[in-house]
Amino acid sequence: MKKIVVLVSGGGTNLQALIDAEKRGEIKGGRITCVISSKPDAYALERAKQNGISTRVIPRKEYADVASYTKAVTDALVEEETDLVVYAGFMTILDEQVVKAFPYKMMNVHPALIPSFCGKGFYGLHVHEAVLESGVKLTGATVHFVTEVCDGGPIILQGAVPVMNGDTPEVLQKRVMEQAEWKLLPKAVSLFCEDRITIRNGRAYVD
Ligand code: GAR
Repeated sequence: MKKIVVLVSGGGTNLQALIDAEKRGEIKGGRITCVISSKPDAYALERAKQNGISTRVIPRKEYADVASYTKAVTDALVEEETDLVVYAGFMTILDEQVVKAFPYKMMNVHPALIPSFCGKGFYGLHVHEAVLESGVKLTGATVHFVTEVCDGGPIILQGAVPVMNGDTPEVLQKRVMEQAEWKLLPKAVSLFCEDRITIRNGRAYVD
């Protein structure tokens, strides 16, 4: 059984999707063993507690810089004997220390079709605001491995979601979550735990 540690900062609906998938037996070969939050008041922590999953809070505010914060998170991940790190609405940037410690063992869910609407500043509702401003008719979600490049690691799964007339960022966010994120993230996590993802020439392939 691979040990999955989920990093969160907010509401934790993606964490909930993972918990529900695990309960349905859809995370083959893995189980969520710990949830780490960058914010003490993240509702995601409640979701973990309600499901008997151990939690840790490593408040971003208590660290002077990205390097010292990354070291604290990396040390916690090593202590937890983590096999897979999942960024599920984790809104804090970590540097290359953690990537070196967990190469191709960290995945992130992003609420758009990478390489569009991604990189620095594109997180949460800001992504959907930018999508609506651009006038594109299709958006979606991407699950990818985390590398040194923000939102630039090998893509594992993507799903497209239509943009509708009259959408607000909130309405679009909900559609992207329901139709893409909450399905793709548990699927990608299960594929990893089943050893079905390989990296060749910097790309991820599902075999
Ligand atoms: C999700 O839409 C996730 O894709 C996004 O934040 C939301 C978190 O919701 N993540 C990013 O924008 C990271 N770049 P949740 O806490 O309910 O899972």
